[in-house]
Amino acid sequence: MNEHASTNLLPVEAARHRVLTVALLILIVAAGHWWTPRGESHFLVLHVLMRKLFILPVLLAAIWFDFRGAAISAAAVMLVYLPHVILQWAGHAEENVNQIGEVATVWIVAGIAGVLVRREKSALKARAQAYYGAVRALVAALDTREHDTGLHSERVCSFALRLATELKLADSELRALELGALLHDIGKIGVPDAILLKPGGLSDDEWRQMREHPELGARILSATPFLEEAVVVVRSHHERFDGSGYPCGLAGDQIPLLARVFAVADVFDAITSKRPYHEALSDAVAVQEIEESAGSHFDPRVVEAFRSVPETEWRELRERVSAESGE
Ligand SMILES: [Fe+2]
Repeated sequence: MNEHASTNLLPVEAARHRVLTVALLILIVAAGHWWTPRGESHFLVLHVLMRKLFILPVLLAAIWFDFRGAAISAAAVMLVYLPHVILQWAGHAEENVNQIGEVATVWIVAGIAGVLVRREKSALKARAQAYYGAVRALVAALDTREHDTGLHSERVCSFALRLATELKLADSELRALELGALLHDIGKIGVPDAILLKPGGLSDDEWRQMREHPELGARILSATPFLEEAVVVVRSHHERFDGSGYPCGLAGDQIPLLARVFAVADVFDAITSKRPYHEALSDAVAVQEIEESAGSHFDPRVVEAFRSVPETEWRELRERVSAESGE
């Protein structure tokens, strides 16, 4: 699985917001607890209720950050709660026993919630890895049929993700792009060998059949919820920025951004790989061809991002894909 999809790291900004939310919640509960009446007041029930609310930030931290988050937030609760016990309840032995029970409850909740959330996350990760493994096996089989190698889609996927990080796309978009790039040509499963592998030019009718593969691929994927997010790339990967592509003849921003990103990666790999009709050309030649097609075939913004990635990185990505696959 690609590193972007395999990690569960939250974007730094979102993680910071969550930490602040937990911290703020602890402070609000602590303030409410300190300032609600104590002793013989009729409102003592409010004071006890506020004490119970300390469990909320601990649960929230467990959900967001699993065991470690739960433990840190429980420690933070202790920091604000214990001074209150020591300073405001000194000498109340009976109440102190209740408070010890409350401290134990916070830690027990932190421990159980943290462990359960950690187990659930690792189960989800294992399930995602199994899905990705199945997708990659299918993609390798399809690639081998057309390209004599199972690596075309893996390389395109790797290039597309590099472009996407250059364009600062969100994690959810990276996941959709990864699946879409891997599965872009899955619709070719419905194209007969006689057309797909035909060495010469195609007749009009054969082209018509070939051009059905994006729609067919999108239909195949939309039946599987796990793969649904890849549909936009699969359906639109042969659209061209000037509107001359297929299947819909979309132009400019009408083409989903992920498909525009993918198109550059796909052509870059096509030019730099050995194909029945041409030898592998150099990265420099591919870069030049892609630059010349900015505004016609490709989105100029994506081409600009492509140009800002050092050429050595493309070679490294290609070598890494080969090394990981053992080919
Ligand atoms: Fe295709």
